[in-house]
Amino acid sequence: MEQNAKNGHDRRSFLTNMTLSTGVLTLGLPMVTGGVESAAAAEGKYDFDTPYNRIGTDSVKWDSVIRSENMTNIVAGMGIADLDFKCAPAITAALRKRITHENWGYLDMGSPGPTAFKQGLIDWNRKRYGITNINPSLMGISTGVHDGIIATMKAYCPPGSKVLMATPIYNGFYGDVKVTNTVAEESLMKFTNGRYEIDWEDFERRMTPDVKVSILCNPQNPVGRAWTKEELTKYGELCLKHKIIVLSDEIHCDFISKGQKYTPFSSLDNKDVVNNSITYKSASKSFSLAGMKCAWFFTTNPEIFKVTAANNRASLNTLGMISMQAAYAGGGDWMTQCASYLSDNQDFLNSYIKSNIPMIKVGNRQEATYLGWLDTTQVADRIGAKKMADEANKTAEDAAAKMGTDYSGAAAMVTRTKATPELMVEHWFAKNANVQINPGTSFGLGGQNHMRMNIGTSRKTLKAALDSMSASLKKLG
Ligand SMILES: Cc1ncc(COP(=O)(O)O)c(C=O)c1O
Repeated sequence: MEQNAKNGHDRRSFLTNMTLSTGVLTLGLPMVTGGVESAAAAEGKYDFDTPYNRIGTDSVKWDSVIRSENMTNIVAGMGIADLDFKCAPAITAALRKRITHENWGYLDMGSPGPTAFKQGLIDWNRKRYGITNINPSLMGISTGVHDGIIATMKAYCPPGSKVLMATPIYNGFYGDVKVTNTVAEESLMKFTNGRYEIDWEDFERRMTPDVKVSILCNPQNPVGRAWTKEELTKYGELCLKHKIIVLSDEIHCDFISKGQKYTPFSSLDNKDVVNNSITYKSASKSFSLAGMKCAWFFTTNPEIFKVTAANNRASLNTLGMISMQAAYAGGGDWMTQCASYLSDNQDFLNSYIKSNIPMIKVGNRQEATYLGWLDTTQVADRIGAKKMADEANKTAEDAAAKMGTDYSGAAAMVTRTKATPELMVEHWFAKNANVQINPGTSFGLGGQNHMRMNIGTSRKTLKAALDSMSASLKKLG
């Protein structure tokens, strides 16, 4: 059994005995893995308010943080982007049904393939977002969104070529750049009137012939923009002009805050712009099925499809496909209510911070996603985060020098192997508030002085986390 170094207990008993400092969640409950309730919605309303205990399931969001930060108390893991809720009942029902057939041999996913599966994805996107140009023969299934993106990159991006991105941007894209041996070309966004906007002059200036693709995050993780039709059109037209293919990652599209709109890149009026793009989607973010590993991509351009499909070797899993199909077929109401709940969480986060945590700054309420983007410049100053990071790097550099290894560079910042003030802020909140949030520097250029906070949780847990962060900062005097 894995040992908890600090406590000297085996991990299971450590978790079972541990009490959460707020009492929001009670440990010692049956483990989540023990069974999922048949959560039929009471009067058509799903329960997002009751905290659901994920501890003890080897979740990255809670368990790995408890381990990596050596926590003996936890109020909330608010890092990696998945949801704390029980999944939509339609998913559990479909999985239950399938496991009664006790054979797990190879699944048919090839051509002509599972037409009901593909039709489910098409129907969801047509009904909810009016996307009418998804051609089943130009859509592919991939293990994850990353796998689809990497497949296209392998076709179009020779090693050493550049990948244009407006930053700060989802840290996982830097991993895609790394495995394809390409180079990130970062265009820093402007923060204007409380929200991030692309700096068009800078963006176009970076469109040199060695840039082959641009990864667009629509809507945007971590800054929460729901890009407008005008912005996306401008993005697409510039890319077309400079022969850069748009890879549009739309995994966050189901989380649009109230009063905002999701504009699918594939729905833009200019068909040449659309033909110069490919879109990647999944139910994994929307329905918290990330561990199920199933995603898909589509394009209107047969050539882009052909080369992407040729590089896509999906390792799909039966339960992943079943859960995604069930989510789209029967999870519509759940999703609508979940997105509404999380939009209210965005309001709650913004007003709580503005009224109670003067040391942290936020912009306008995020337009999309269930992520908050916090300016923690003052926190870093107050806790001496820069000095802490310098000291940690010095120690690591000395150790690396002794072993003859290199310890430097921007990539190390993104992969968090190099200490940054933001990483120190992460450790500080874990230690002093029992809350984990993500350091902004892992989101590339522009992530300095920021932290990302996942608010895809019950309002009680969100409030407990904010209360605890606020109290820890007040202690600084
Ligand atoms: C923008 C974006 N793309 C892709 C992913 C991960 O996708 P997958 O797990 O399907 O590869 C995430 C997860 O946080 C994300 O935020």
